Amino acid sequence: MAIGVYGAAARAVLLLAVAAVLVPGLGVRGGAAQQQLSERFYDGSCPGVHRVVRRVLKEAHRADPRIYASLTRLHFHDCFVQGCDGSILLDNSSSIVSEKYAKPNNNSARGYPVVDDVKAALEKACPGVVSCADILAIAAKVSVELSGGPRWRVQLGRRDGTTANITGANSLLPSPRNNLTTLQRKFAAVGLDDTDLVALSGAHTFGRAQCQFVTDRLYNFSKTGKPDPTLDGGYQALLAASCPRRGGNKTALNDLDPTTPDAFDKNYFTNLEANRGFLRSDQELFSTPGAPTAAIVDRFASSEKAFFRSFAASMIKMGNAKPLTGGQGEVRQNCRKVNGS
Ligand code: HEM
Ligand SMILES: *[C@@H]1O[C@H](CO)[C@@H](O)[C@H](O)[C@H]1NC(C)=O
Ligand SMILES: *[C@@H]1O[C@H](CO)[C@@H](O)[C@H](O)[C@H]1NC(C)=O
Ligand SMILES: *[C@@H]1O[C@H](CO)[C@@H](O)[C@H](O)[C@H]1NC(C)=O
Ligand SMILES: *[C@@H]1O[C@H](CO)[C@@H](O)[C@H](O)[C@H]1NC(C)=O
Ligand SMILES: *[C@@H]1O[C@H](CO)[C@@H](O)[C@H](O)[C@H]1NC(C)=O
Ligand SMILES: *[C@@H]1O[C@H](CO)[C@@H](O)[C@H](O)[C@H]1NC(C)=O
Repeated sequence: MAIGVYGAAARAVLLLAVAAVLVPGLGVRGGAAQQQLSERFYDGSCPGVHRVVRRVLKEAHRADPRIYASLTRLHFHDCFVQGCDGSILLDNSSSIVSEKYAKPNNNSARGYPVVDDVKAALEKACPGVVSCADILAIAAKVSVELSGGPRWRVQLGRRDGTTANITGANSLLPSPRNNLTTLQRKFAAVGLDDTDLVALSGAHTFGRAQCQFVTDRLYNFSKTGKPDPTLDGGYQALLAASCPRRGGNKTALNDLDPTTPDAFDKNYFTNLEANRGFLRSDQELFSTPGAPTAAIVDRFASSEKAFFRSFAASMIKMGNAKPLTGGQGEVRQNCRKVNGS
């Protein structure tokens, strides 16, 4: 037992997962009971899997301090579109229209070459065994841990899909301009509730975001010609310096959490309390009048332990989105291609 997140919250999720098998119809996904993921899935077939992923990620991090954030996001963008099946990793081909060019991913989602490096190292250590979907789940877990965040026992045994769905990537992934109702609806579609929405949004405690996702809030919010009233004036000025109204670079990068840009901590939530959320979708969680999520923001802002426990539990829950298991799908040899194509 490392730290507290192996405690009550995580156990409750595991119990729910077990209950879903025993009681048809109960459970976060709905639909038919499926074979469950397991934290010990590779114990016999690839016992070094965690060590290998960790080694490759640490190596990548030396050249790219942003990579831990980018990989955490990739797992999320995988899971929201036809489940955690590695579909986001597939490139264009005769049979695949890649999700990489969907609006939320195009020129935004990153880290694919590092996933390739992890896959190559794992193919050396245990050929044909570890799926690309599981690589994303492990990479997210290791990334959060190496950034000072919580640890959790990542559930494994996902198989890789043989299809992608760019339409799904465009419609199911949340947009930074979504209001709270729409965010709730998109998370509920993956079996995630308000606590999951707030906890998982806490991943914006690290990583970067482009100016184009904040310019409307800085200068012309909802076509009012004024800044977003829920944006702190000092923070507006700080962001305006990096993202000028005219002649700016819309792909210029900003820290999602300017207080501790690369550390996984609870500052995302204290930022929201100070009207210093970067995206509209961030600030909505706290500032929407009457929002049930505001109290959850306050709870996480005042207790890092509460945030870490919930984040770990919600990552496990998100990672259980419609996994392919058993004989479904395949273990890809190359994360970018369906086998034999
Ligand atoms: C609640 C709805 C969410 C919306 C609307 C949203 C939107 C965005 C946007 C627009 C960016 C900036 C991308 C860019 O500038 O290219 C971003 C970055 C990021 N998002 Fe989210 N996100 C959401 C939830 C999540 C969740 C659930 C996670 C993970 C659990 C996550 C993890 C990240 C990370 C780590 C980054 C920084 C990535 C990097 O530096 O490469 N986000 N998100
Ligand atoms: C992949 O296909 C999509 C959709 O047809 C297209 O928009 C995109 O430019 C293609 N990307 C590459 C690198 O070929
Ligand atoms: C993706 O971004 C490129 C610019 O790098 C752009 O030319 C292309 O049209 C975009 N693709 C889609 C499908 O929006
Ligand atoms: C792709 O996703 C969309 C939106 O969820 C869905 O309506 C459609 O049926 C999916 N396509 C396939 C082939 O699964
Ligand atoms: C949220 O956005 C949706 C879609 O744009 C819209 O239909 C809805 O009225 C909005 N809800 C609120 C409370 O603003
Ligand atoms: C704000 O945006 C709207 C719609 O794009 C535009 O008509 C309006 O002129 C803009 N206002 C200012 C002050 O730029
Ligand atoms: C815009 O910002 C991006 C990201 O920092 C950078 O790679 C690019 O060179 C910049 N473009 C210009 C024209 O300055």
